[in-house]
Amino acid sequence: MFEFPKDFLWGAATSSHQVEGNNINSDWWDWEQNGKVKERSGKACDHWNRFREDFSLAKSLHHNAHRFSLEWSRIEPEEGQFNEEALSHYREVIEALKLNRLEPIVTLHHFTLPLWLAKQGGWLSHKTPNLFARYVRKAVETLGEGVRYWITLNEPVAYVFKSYFMGEWPPAERSYEKTLQALGHLLKGHVLAYDAVKEVNQRLKRSPAQVGIAKHVLIFTPCSDRSWKDRISVWIRNLMFNHLFIRALIRGRIFYPGLFKIQLPKARTLDFIGMNYYTRDFVHNEGFRIPALFGDICTLKHHRQVGRRNFLSWEIYPQGLYRLIKEFSQYKLPLLVTENGVCTDHDEERFEFIESHLGELAKAIQEGAPVFGYLYWSLLDNYEWAEGFSPRFGLIEVDYETQERKIRPSAKRFAQICERGTRP
Ligand code: BGC
Repeated sequence: MFEFPKDFLWGAATSSHQVEGNNINSDWWDWEQNGKVKERSGKACDHWNRFREDFSLAKSLHHNAHRFSLEWSRIEPEEGQFNEEALSHYREVIEALKLNRLEPIVTLHHFTLPLWLAKQGGWLSHKTPNLFARYVRKAVETLGEGVRYWITLNEPVAYVFKSYFMGEWPPAERSYEKTLQALGHLLKGHVLAYDAVKEVNQRLKRSPAQVGIAKHVLIFTPCSDRSWKDRISVWIRNLMFNHLFIRALIRGRIFYPGLFKIQLPKARTLDFIGMNYYTRDFVHNEGFRIPALFGDICTLKHHRQVGRRNFLSWEIYPQGLYRLIKEFSQYKLPLLVTENGVCTDHDEERFEFIESHLGELAKAIQEGAPVFGYLYWSLLDNYEWAEGFSPRFGLIEVDYETQERKIRPSAKRFAQICERGTRP
């Protein structure tokens, strides 16, 4: 039996576009209306209207924390015009969390942008970091009382990779230069947002809040253990995808492969690191130029034997959580598991997933890793971006026709762990 630390945060996460519904002023809504994805988000989970019910379900499951995101395109639907209705909605959201004794963990950017900003170039524009900081300042001034944890950016590296390198998400660019340009602006956006949170809280004489990012982290393994080329690609991918963004924020500057130097206004702008962990990828070297050097994913192509997969064919690899936490302990910052979850049509697999990952987490904590919470992805079934509504990640099942919620058995078993703070 392992006892998690006393004030450990237990809960689940969501993001605005994936659950709220009718998020009409965002670039993702526009993308959907233009037929770029198989399903549109539409009403999603109607969480905009049902957040109270959803939070009381989370409370009944013994969660003591909840991660959600503010939707920038609702708060600032037109450039420089802040929408009071949206702000007061989010004030109610935060109050409802507190009433249910759920610690709010607030994300400021989770993949979506206001459409007006996307039209001006989104993260490719050098103006965006300042515009982001202006929105953050407004959000923190209006909503920040009693919020102890802010996450500026969700998965910035995965986001630029999908949006500017793979061309799969808006704005569907496919360029390494643009990817690095967007990364540079996201880094700067984080630094300015970090300062904005600190400055506002100080000015309004509030207790200081902790500011971090939610970093997508993956295990990379060579397709062929015997191939030194594959091993080089694994090393470089691990650096690019898992570490460079964090190191840039710690050091205040970074060289990305291709010798693209990014200088930030200051160093040490992370109070904690959020880790979103799902799977491992097998990597095959494709050459020594960029981007071939980063390699390609070989799981399907080379029929490499892997463990069980989720509904989206991602391998379930609990040991990866332990390995990454150990690896990230090098940064000597508190760590929070901001996402970890499985999409499956077989709910018994969900609890197996949670239990096995918590086992790995417990092992890392026992060995001294500074982890202060675990947030399952996701509280509800929701809109999984380009994959639509079919992947079911929720602790709570959502019937999209009726919007009826049903607590899954796995959620009840996870609730026992949250209540006791122990893992058998
Ligand atoms: C993202 C979520 C997404 C989840 C499952 C994370 O990469 O932050 O928005 O739904 O993974 O794919």
